[in-house]
Amino acid sequence: MRMSILKIGFIGAGKVGFSLGKLFADGNAAVTGYYSRRYSSALEAARFTDTKPYERLESITADSDALFLTVPDQEIRSVYGELVRLGIKGKTVCQCSGALTVDETFPNIKGQGAQGQSVHPLFPVNDKYTSYRGLTGAFFCIEENDGCELWWELLEGMGLKTRYIAPAVKPKYHAACAVVSNLACALADIGTRLMEQCGFSQREALDALAPLIKHNTENIIENGAAAALTGPTERGDAVTVKKHLDCLTGSDKELYRSASLILAKLAEEKSPDRDRRAVTALLNEGGMSK
Ligand SMILES: NC(=O)c1ccc[n+]([C@@H]2O[C@H](COP(=O)([O-])OP(=O)(O)OC[C@H]3O[C@@H](n4cnc5c(N)ncnc54)[C@H](OP(=O)(O)O)[C@@H]3O)[C@@H](O)[C@H]2O)c1
Repeated sequence: MRMSILKIGFIGAGKVGFSLGKLFADGNAAVTGYYSRRYSSALEAARFTDTKPYERLESITADSDALFLTVPDQEIRSVYGELVRLGIKGKTVCQCSGALTVDETFPNIKGQGAQGQSVHPLFPVNDKYTSYRGLTGAFFCIEENDGCELWWELLEGMGLKTRYIAPAVKPKYHAACAVVSNLACALADIGTRLMEQCGFSQREALDALAPLIKHNTENIIENGAAAALTGPTERGDAVTVKKHLDCLTGSDKELYRSASLILAKLAEEKSPDRDRRAVTALLNEGGMSK
């Protein structure tokens, strides 16, 4: 079926449902509308995308060729179960999970005469009304499956960036996304709390740390992690690393220690001429969490 006439319905009117629906509708795809756990959410999403709200799962299923299950990961299988009971012969069912595969979420979908797909927007979709704008610059990772070219065509046709991903590597792929996105929040939290202990308000701390966060991120994107690396571990400055360790406690200290050991390896590759043995010994010392 050509993408321009493929009618796409969304089940789950949350952040990703709103954002993908808006992106697709603005890109002239045929979006039928929304069904959600609460009708008020479906109504809100339908208004935002100028599509139709559905009160019944049967109705959106009947009206759509493809159903995007934009519900939380842990809900995908049960919604799929409901769709199977209704009958999905000839339909495409698609989920947006980065970690879960089509086989895990849509067991025996071929036996239902339907196709299962997964399209993961590689983007922190944190707002129902504005995140769709950022999606235009994001990668969409399409799980390799029979018929997945359909989504490649649709997304490429809208000028979006796509990439295929093998089902077996999805957990690792999603761990990569979580490390750079979610774990960065843990680092920001540690930094902000330490600044607060130095007398900064949270707002002042974030403003003061912003150039470090922004320029470091830009340097990493531009040149890679090793080239962007600066600081005492890179310089082999054990005195400063000890001072840092002495003012950290608990999991903050553990994170500093294990992340710095990774940095020490990175620094070795970058400038092997520097002596970092004292730093590495300090970081490897037992009882860091004392
Ligand atoms: N957020 C991200 O950054 C991001 C990025 C890439 C991929 N994803 C994936 O996108 C999917 C959706 O994530 P999200 O962040 O958009 O979640 P979300 O904001 O929590 O939205 C999920 C929506 O699903 C609805 N829902 C929950 N259970 C349902 C059910 N049994 N039947 C029908 N509707 C149900 C809820 O509806 P009501 O409002 O009606 O209660 C909620 O609005 C997940 O698979 C996630 O892994 C998320």
